[in-house]
Amino acid sequence: MKDLPRRKFIKGAAVLSGAAICGVATANNAKAAETLPEDFVPPPMPWGYQELDPEYVRKLGHLGYYLEECGGGSFWAIMTALKEKIGYPYTLVPLPTQEEFIEHLEAKKRGEKPKHYQGIMQHGVGGVADYGSLCGAANGAAAAVMFAFPAADMKPIVQRIMRYYETEAFPNAKSNQYAVNDEFLVPKYKSQKSLPRSASHSVLCHVSVAKWCEKSGYASGSKERSERCARITGDTAAMAVTLLNAHLKGNLETVFPLKLSEDTVSCRVCHFKGKKYEAGQFARGSMECASCHNDMTPHMAENKLKTAYGTDVGTWAGAAVVGTAAGIGTHAVAGRFSKEEPHDEE
Ligand code: HEC
Ligand code: HEC
Repeated sequence: MKDLPRRKFIKGAAVLSGAAICGVATANNAKAAETLPEDFVPPPMPWGYQELDPEYVRKLGHLGYYLEECGGGSFWAIMTALKEKIGYPYTLVPLPTQEEFIEHLEAKKRGEKPKHYQGIMQHGVGGVADYGSLCGAANGAAAAVMFAFPAADMKPIVQRIMRYYETEAFPNAKSNQYAVNDEFLVPKYKSQKSLPRSASHSVLCHVSVAKWCEKSGYASGSKERSERCARITGDTAAMAVTLLNAHLKGNLETVFPLKLSEDTVSCRVCHFKGKKYEAGQFARGSMECASCHNDMTPHMAENKLKTAYGTDVGTWAGAAVVGTAAGIGTHAVAGRFSKEEPHDEE
């Protein structure tokens, strides 16, 4: 591979990022590509990180949602802040500029046909293509994390994004305040009200939306629900950046101690990704178990189980209690969680 002189490269990259923003830019893209040497190869990831302002990213995330929904929005917000701060190689990512996003919304406001934009991670919308699974705000933010730090650092950061998503009463109070005070970047809001807040205890779009709708009385197709998700996109991107900042300074655990719910901790005493099938290691993950499992009947049968910690238990249900009572607490289990073999089949 030939080394590309940096100056020549930046020139090409600027043309490329300028052209790629245009929805009908296929021809332009081809032209831009011509200005890059044929054997040009983007640098390998990760591309590095510098401290970002979470409040700025919260606003970008909110704006991003208006064009690329939750998945595209949170990814765009973090990547845009990185591009502005670090420049190359983040200039290589085809990200429309903030001004272009705002012009798009202004055009809509004027009743004109706005330019089309398409975003990376936009498929995250509505829990992946409206399927209601993982919320796009978390998904898009996680994708951006992969650009910033080595893959080995990804899990502790992304797990915290997920945990934040489960526990935060969305939309965050700051987001509500920005909307009411008109501090967000959009020219026209879907709703400027301070919206009801609720924690979903789930990373699923389906659960998050349904619980919020139930609490607020707004339908899932309402402007208010959409505005809520715009704020959540900002909130999640802002937290991701808070975590990235903390990781940069080496104080992730202080800034956001990874505390799983008490239920999850008790279940994970036995149910974690492991090799002993009979001991319960036929499940994996750390979502809040209790958001879906509440029938513990299978655990009521008598058994001769001694827990891994040598405690005798009469029933599986007893074991779950022993798990927590014996002080196999959040930290032991969370510790095991993050120590799972990183390159095990996922
Ligand atoms: C002390 C170990 C232990 C703890 C703690 C524990 N389980 Fe289990 N669990 C098991 C084992 C072993 C089985 C398999 C039992 C069997 O099939 O006879 C099982 C079975 C299950 C099943 C499958 C039931 C079925 O229909 O076959 C579910 C669901 C489950 N556990 C959920 C949970 C949840 C949720 C928690 C926490 C609230 C929990 N378990 C805590 C050991 C445990
Ligand atoms: C989003 C909902 C959801 C969450 C959260 C969840 N589960 Fe499950 N889990 C399921 C479903 C659905 C199944 C399949 C149940 C079935 O088909 O019987 C399942 C299956 C299982 C099984 C195997 C059951 C079997 O039939 O053998 C275990 C054990 C289990 N889950 C434990 C857990 C634990 C422990 C947690 C928390 C760390 C958890 N689950 C979180 C929905 C969930």
